[in-house]
Amino acid sequence: MRKKLVVGNWKMNMTISETKDFLAQIKDKIDKKNDVAFCVPTISLESAILSLKDIDIGIGVQNIHEKDSGAYTGETAAKMVKDAGATYALVGHSERRQYFGETCEWVNLKAIQAIKHDLIPIICVGETETEREQGITSELIKKQIKIAFLNIPNEDAIKCVIAYEPVWAIGTGKTATTEQAEEVCKLIRETIEELYGLETAQKIRILYGGSVNASNAKELFSMENIDGGLVGGASLSLDFINITNA
Ligand code: 13P
Repeated sequence: MRKKLVVGNWKMNMTISETKDFLAQIKDKIDKKNDVAFCVPTISLESAILSLKDIDIGIGVQNIHEKDSGAYTGETAAKMVKDAGATYALVGHSERRQYFGETCEWVNLKAIQAIKHDLIPIICVGETETEREQGITSELIKKQIKIAFLNIPNEDAIKCVIAYEPVWAIGTGKTATTEQAEEVCKLIRETIEELYGLETAQKIRILYGGSVNASNAKELFSMENIDGGLVGGASLSLDFINITNA
């Protein structure tokens, strides 16, 4: 049985003070029978970790650089993130692909770098509205997955988390139907089976993200191939408690 995982992606929201206040309010109310994590702005990483010490809630970042260290002004290395005490790193979020030009190949290098420094990469994939309308969703998702996992051996792949986030459902209030979400998450699992075999496919966790809220979470998370959620807007409010309980 795969343990459910609910991850809040705060994006570029919450100052350090707001982080401390929010986590103090929420930490005891979150249902710990599922895995729960927050991917916070890098500047708040340490205070988020300190706010949650002794509490079983993971902390991660929203992006890492693909190199160990060097002259990459403004970037953060996976090694630094790990040293600060993080567990997760989002990799290839559609906003990174869209606004910062991250390609599938780049996402792959970042995933490899996360694994190298013992962070769990949450590898994000998803199609735009136009791509869905063109009927190329399956083809595109398979391609994104196959490239993201290049040169990642089975023993590392099994530890990764995948998040299916249809771009048209992010921040739009337009959630994919449970059937649409399940269909793509199933396809992702089949693609992992093609790459690594049945055991890995059955163990790897696949999340759905895109306008998840307290009213739709339960139904989405009850689907066979959806092992939890990657939650944006609703992870910034106390509503997130109800999502983790779903
Ligand atoms: P929303 O939940 O705000 O739609 O964002 C989803 C997302 O991008 C999480 O990574």
